[in-house]
Amino acid sequence: MSKTIVIYKTKYGSTKTYAHWIAEELGCGAVNAKDIKIDDLSQYDTVIYGGGLYAEIINGVTLITKNMEKLSGKKIIIYTTGITPLDVRAYYDGEVLEKNFKNGVPENVKIFNFLGKMKMDELTLVHRAALKSLKKIMSAKENPSDMIKLLIELCDADGDFCDRTQIRELCEYAKS
Ligand SMILES: Cc1cc2nc3c(=O)[nH]c(=O)nc-3n(C[C@H](O)[C@H](O)[C@H](O)COP(=O)(O)O)c2cc1C
Repeated sequence: MSKTIVIYKTKYGSTKTYAHWIAEELGCGAVNAKDIKIDDLSQYDTVIYGGGLYAEIINGVTLITKNMEKLSGKKIIIYTTGITPLDVRAYYDGEVLEKNFKNGVPENVKIFNFLGKMKMDELTLVHRAALKSLKKIMSAKENPSDMIKLLIELCDADGDFCDRTQIRELCEYAKS
């Protein structure tokens, strides 16, 4: 029988929430990335990795991208959680992929994107300050593109957009 594991790295819990939903749906385990080493993954056929987006970087994804040789032959699924609307495909298929997969997405890797949570009153002071300065930098741009305008707006996003129905396609692919 095919063996699957879900690994997540989280700061505020969204990615962990999805990891547990996916694990429940697939009947497999979900573990925090800090509790696993790459060699522990040799026993699995399908490895699902989740990380929140922080300035377009998928939190901790180098566990996967720096170890593609050790993961060859496995089905690798990566999911992101973030506050950018999912239909902004230029963002997910452009910026996010370019920043996280410098040599392109390997052929055994499939990526899914989910909406996460950003609650202003939960954020660390450092993160609040980072968002404030990002907003300031982007707002200073002359003739901002629609994407920049959207990113400026998203700096003030405040809510929990996690939704279990979003995992359906990922789970179908994992089982296929
Ligand atoms: C400093 C900071 C930077 C962020 N950058 C992005 C981003 O580039 N794109 C995005 O869609 N969401 C961004 N977010 C929102 C988080 O990705 C989102 O809240 C995510 O669900 C967090 O996952 P976690 O709680 O599992 O770490 C950012 C949030 C913070 C606090």
